[in-house]
Amino acid sequence: MSLRDRIEFAMITFVHDRMYGLFMKPHKLLIPAGLKKGQHVLEVGCGPGFFTLPAAEIVGKEGLIYANDINPFAIKKVEKKIDKASVKNVKTLLEDVTETSLEDNSIDLAFLFGFMHFLNKFLDKVLIEMHRILKDEGYISIQKWMISEEKLIKDITKDGLFELKEKTKRILVFKKISQTK
Ligand SMILES: C[S@@+](CC[C@H](N)C(=O)[O-])C[C@H]1O[C@@H](n2cnc3c(N)ncnc32)[C@H](O)[C@@H]1O
Repeated sequence: MSLRDRIEFAMITFVHDRMYGLFMKPHKLLIPAGLKKGQHVLEVGCGPGFFTLPAAEIVGKEGLIYANDINPFAIKKVEKKIDKASVKNVKTLLEDVTETSLEDNSIDLAFLFGFMHFLNKFLDKVLIEMHRILKDEGYISIQKWMISEEKLIKDITKDGLFELKEKTKRILVFKKISQTK
């Protein structure tokens, strides 16, 4: 892990973990994103975990959150939060979201919040991986940030893997198009 990664994570922690809480309620994004009781959910790029514990609360004991990040500092931070809160329904995944260890067709919903900057770099690979791990009725939910909604919809739907299901002011929800139908 380079010095640059450490600095980047320190900045993300400051903004996402400390500043966000001042003006953002996690549930206000997680509910429109489609999280529900009992689901198995992948949180892509969880960072310091601003959304992780609230997401675990929504899916409840019957559900499971896979908190994924490529940065070991992020995963360590989230693991500390899980331990402190004695939360049992979160598993951390220290891996690249374009190549996860998750089983095919195993996830109900994947949410990508604060991920636009990274998503633009490897969109096609992320979409292929999300399509693989999602169940046939699965969804991806993306927080819009500094991008035209029209462009985002076009980019996500262009290869026929996903179709737009719902949109709110800040969240776009896409449904997996199953290839087996
Ligand atoms: C800006 S943070 C967002 C954190 C959190 N989702 C939030 O909204 O508060 C983006 C996170 O994505 C992670 N990330 C970047 N590329 C990734 C990849 N290929 N696989 C998994 N995580 C990645 C970064 O390490 C960083 O922690």
